[in-house]
Amino acid sequence: MKFPTDLPIWQKLIDDHTETKHEHLRDVFAKDPQRAERYWLEVGGISVDYSKNRINDTIMADLVQLARDTGVPERMKQMFQGEKINVTEERAALHIALRNRANTPIYVDNQNVMPKINQVLQQMADFAQQVRDGQWKGYTNQAITDIINIGIGGSNLGPRMMCTALRPFGHQRLRMHFVSNVDDAQLQDTLAKVQPETTLFIIASKTFTTQETITNALAAREWFLKTASQADIAKHFVAVSSNQQAVVEFGINPTHMFEFWDWVGGRYSLWSAIGLPIMLYLGEEQFIEMLEGAHLMDQHFINTPLTHNLPVTLALLGVWYNNFYNGKSHVIAPYDEHLHHLPRFIQQLDMESNGKSIQLDGKATNTFTCPIIWGETGSNGQHAFFQLLHQGTHIIPIDMIVSLEKSRHSNQHNILVANVFAQAEAFMRGKTAEEAEAELRAQGLPEQRIAQLVPHKTFSGNRPSNMILMQKINPKNMGTLIAMYEHKVFVQGIIWGINSFDQWGVELGKQLAQTILSEFNDNTEQPHDSSTSRLIKRYKHFIKQTQEQKHQ
Ligand code: F6P
Repeated sequence: MKFPTDLPIWQKLIDDHTETKHEHLRDVFAKDPQRAERYWLEVGGISVDYSKNRINDTIMADLVQLARDTGVPERMKQMFQGEKINVTEERAALHIALRNRANTPIYVDNQNVMPKINQVLQQMADFAQQVRDGQWKGYTNQAITDIINIGIGGSNLGPRMMCTALRPFGHQRLRMHFVSNVDDAQLQDTLAKVQPETTLFIIASKTFTTQETITNALAAREWFLKTASQADIAKHFVAVSSNQQAVVEFGINPTHMFEFWDWVGGRYSLWSAIGLPIMLYLGEEQFIEMLEGAHLMDQHFINTPLTHNLPVTLALLGVWYNNFYNGKSHVIAPYDEHLHHLPRFIQQLDMESNGKSIQLDGKATNTFTCPIIWGETGSNGQHAFFQLLHQGTHIIPIDMIVSLEKSRHSNQHNILVANVFAQAEAFMRGKTAEEAEAELRAQGLPEQRIAQLVPHKTFSGNRPSNMILMQKINPKNMGTLIAMYEHKVFVQGIIWGINSFDQWGVELGKQLAQTILSEFNDNTEQPHDSSTSRLIKRYKHFIKQTQEQKHQ
């Protein structure tokens, strides 16, 4: 397998960078009035203005060539055909099947996966209807009012992000809660808000072995059994998993289990039964709308030439900064409070998928892979870290996401939209020393003060951003948006030659934590480095002291 850097097109892109790196976007815009029109793509309710990037037609054509030369079109096809592209786990990556609204057959191991997908969807819809209508009763014959999803990583972030994003579309009676952290504080804080007789627990874990989830689930069951009986568990605990045996061992009836499959990666699973909280909150119709929105993006992705392909374009822009501009991080800034979980959702999607340094052939990569993804809602971020984005020493590309339409149009929304557009403009044009000087002079400041302040009030500009406009935040558009990011991540993984669908990097910490935990529990000592040993001793000493104090 070749390194992408060995391809002639890589060298061409290095030359493109050398030739254009001193061009300023301000001048580029001034020379090219059609630029905004040309670098604009729309899919369903999502429009992306990517004109404020440090690109030109040649660069874009060369980036597309890079996608071709690294085999992007072939790998895309393989994914859609259900091939086992997740080679280290010998699995397909078929989140696209979960939202295949055309219902065309998709085969894994010669078996069409669509019938079982549709069957689980129906099971979820029937269950959701009963809970939503109040027919599903708790052990005191009352309707469910609170739903607690216990799951972590992909079994938490997707449903949580969607339920928050789509709050205006949610069921009036149902309150959604999410417990992920093994820190007892999160579960206890949540349980303090609910009553056992009207609470439904969803234990969501693909493997059903995840320590945090199983520990929290056992604690929740213990809390529940303080007031209810063992037989009542059936009305209050359901499971979402691909591991039926473990679900049964936990004490949940398999009829109350919603299945999904090994070819659904955790961070790509919100479209599967892991989306049960979303189905419960939104109802079947709106859940299907979300799937339709994602399907729309899937169709665009697989059928549109690379040159006009939205996820491919975003992926290529990311590669451009990551590998040619040495930009090591990427900001996600949704200008919408309801999207406040989006940055961390994309963080897992991107960093767990592409945070790797080994190619598919087992060789170490020789170029940078996934950037660090971080972010916060605007306008909050503006008053926290945007200083660095404007005047810091790093070039950090940013995706700004904003919805045109709001369920309640207010003056605040105008302010929000004005701010997001202004930020993108400011990142792009900056402020020259001459402009800063003229402003200070207009304020009547003495010359010496002006000279002192000008460097500080100058903005270099030329800082890239994508403006992602959503017509409205609704189930369909959210589906389209998230599918767009999923495919972007996939394309980047192909270009870097890595497997975006495994996550071995999370295993070592889990293994070591088991050893340390056993040392706490059995009061034994295992060999560690001096730092780890000292930390363990310190904690054990603290526990011992507290126990002794209790007994005094
Ligand atoms: O440890 C990482 C991870 O495996 C994620 O990939 C996954 O989303 C999360 O843990 C939860 O896993 P599970 O759904 O099996 O509990």
